[in-house]
Amino acid sequence: MQILVLHGPNLNLLGTREPQVYGSTTLEQINDALTAQAAARGARLTAFQSNHEGVLIDRVHAARTDGTQFVVINPGAFTHTSVALRDAFAGVAIPFIEVHLSNVHRREPFRHHSYFSDIAEGVIVGLGAKGYHLALDAALDRLAAQAQ
Ligand code: DQA
Repeated sequence: MQILVLHGPNLNLLGTREPQVYGSTTLEQINDALTAQAAARGARLTAFQSNHEGVLIDRVHAARTDGTQFVVINPGAFTHTSVALRDAFAGVAIPFIEVHLSNVHRREPFRHHSYFSDIAEGVIVGLGAKGYHLALDAALDRLAAQAQ
């Protein structure tokens, strides 16, 4: 089982970025914990962060041929702006779960719309870093069920 975790813009600042909104866990800590969680279930996990829309799109395209079976993504602010990244997911047809640390629906109106949610397998918002772990668990359950 092979999972790709994608983090969008500004998530490299986690830990120091608006901790009252996003918590104090760093991106490295989140990625390390996710890698351990995947390994405990016999899965491989790759994590990738970029502040650049095109770089994220290229990474999604690469996922088509690198064995990735499922993606967990926090698109950051691209959630609310990027038709192009949405189209990349539609194009590669790899299932994905959308994660947001904060409860975007309790925040500014411009954060209420996502270009990803209607084509995602599921969406987790507002549970902090735990949301990534819940998403990974669900992804691994799906892949394990498919493998049977
Ligand atoms: C976010 C929510 C987005 O609105 C914001 O632009 C982010 C982080 C979250 O994880 O809560 O960068 O995706």
